[in-house]
Amino acid sequence: MKKALITGLTGQDGSYLSELLLKKGYDVYGLVRRSSNEPFIRFPDSVRKQIKVVYGNLRDTGAIERAIQEAMPDEIYNLAAQSDVGLSFRIPEATIEIDYYGVGRLVNAVLKVKPDTRVYQASTSEMFGKTNPPQNEDSPFQPVSPYGEAKLKAHEDFVKGYRERYGLYICSGFLFNHESPRRGEHFVTRKITLSLAKIKLGLQDSFELGNLGAHRDWGFAGDYVEAMWKMLQQKKPEDFVIATGVSHTVREFVDAAAKALGLKLTFEGRGIDEVARDKKGRIVLRVNPVFYRPNDVDALRGDASKAQKILGWKPKTSFEDLAKMMAQSDLKELSRKP
Ligand code: GDD
Repeated sequence: MKKALITGLTGQDGSYLSELLLKKGYDVYGLVRRSSNEPFIRFPDSVRKQIKVVYGNLRDTGAIERAIQEAMPDEIYNLAAQSDVGLSFRIPEATIEIDYYGVGRLVNAVLKVKPDTRVYQASTSEMFGKTNPPQNEDSPFQPVSPYGEAKLKAHEDFVKGYRERYGLYICSGFLFNHESPRRGEHFVTRKITLSLAKIKLGLQDSFELGNLGAHRDWGFAGDYVEAMWKMLQQKKPEDFVIATGVSHTVREFVDAAAKALGLKLTFEGRGIDEVARDKKGRIVLRVNPVFYRPNDVDALRGDASKAQKILGWKPKTSFEDLAKMMAQSDLKELSRKP
């Protein structure tokens, strides 16, 4: 039986990946941060029961080494990160601490305890930053956020660097935005679907967003974890862009989620004066500059043809289906609550 250790197990991707690996017959270990909140909120009970938890985090070398000693994994998936791009402008040191130094601690622990472990590093499309789309594995990196910079440095030093210097089997997945009903509520897609579902049910009148014109290439997280696994099953370690190849604005996501809930919205105005109204003319969405970032990536659209050719991977879920899945899930959950 193969064994996998997942850092960041309790996040969106960790929950889908652990389900996938359990289905494939893996023994799954998770490095889990002790916190006052319920860490397994995203997990069905049946899945949670099968996961072996090791408490620790990427700030703690001893805990990482112990987790590897305990699991003796064939594969490690490093999904732990300060992954909120907007927040990284406010907490740059904490972001670098986890997203850069944390990766260093992990790969050093691998070399020390079990150097034949295969490692997946969650790199990101945010590293491409200002580079014009479509972005692929050969596109230049021009990050604009502390998060993108920390992830880029980790890729250069600990993925490319350790692969070349120490022969470590380590791959970067340059994943474009990937969403699901399990997405954290501070990311834009989930904020939108949750707010619209509340509006639909009369629990809220309106909500606020920042940059409505940013283009993102949004896919379904459940499809993307399959690509992570495939990357670690190859003869040699390589890096891959994982994306749908289709990009939409934040405004278009609002529209698609609203349609899925039977709400017809009309957008009017520009910049900070832009609003969306429902069919009775009531304002349901306003722009608030509080949600703007000091610097934002304008346009992401990935070219995943290498993944298709070498991994045989392609996305299965369309933009419209993704928005619908998320909006309807939030509506269902909210309708269930007393
Ligand atoms: N979060 C948020 N909240 N974003 C907003 C808002 C808002 O109220 N209003 C507009 N946006 C815009 C952001 O400015 C950005 O252009 C876009 O919506 C997407 O923001 P997020 O959902 O926060 O995602 P992200 O693209 O910054 O980062 C996500 O994807 C990366 C892959 O490209 C994260 O998951 C990263 O961890 C991941 O690496």
